[in-house]
Amino acid sequence: MRVGFGCDHAAVDLKNELMAYMKDKGYECLDYGTNYDEDGEIIKCDYPAKGQEVGEAVASGEVDYAVLLCGTGIGISLSANKVAGVRAAVCSEPYSARLTRQHNDANIIAMGARVVGSELAKMILDEFFGAEFEGGRHQRRVDMIAEIENKYRK
Ligand code: RB5
Repeated sequence: MRVGFGCDHAAVDLKNELMAYMKDKGYECLDYGTNYDEDGEIIKCDYPAKGQEVGEAVASGEVDYAVLLCGTGIGISLSANKVAGVRAAVCSEPYSARLTRQHNDANIIAMGARVVGSELAKMILDEFFGAEFEGGRHQRRVDMIAEIENKYRK
């Protein structure tokens, strides 16, 4: 499974720690930045640009899922959700992370580096990536989300 990782300048350390954690578990991890430059300074990055970039990587199938991080997880997920086909969910605890896979078929999980610590973030990823979409009545509702998206597609 290919998992993309993207963040703004508020979440570089968490992104790198979570990427290493997921690599250790055998996931193929693609780093979309942002990162440190050669002087050790964090490269500034506006969360809408990163949300769009990684959202497009998910929508095109370049990666199967993605993990997006900013200060709160909110701005970057709002931005990714503007890309057709993206279902990005901000989660700050494991229960929602599992349910958003099982019921919403979320393809991006977002977290806030100023909200969750790294150990909690790892538990959240374990739940998200350990769960399967349940289909059935949930498929109909996910299809309804796509219909809203189609209604406003230019
Ligand atoms: C950047 O300071 C901050 O606004 C951003 O990381 C995020 O929290 C936005 O939702």
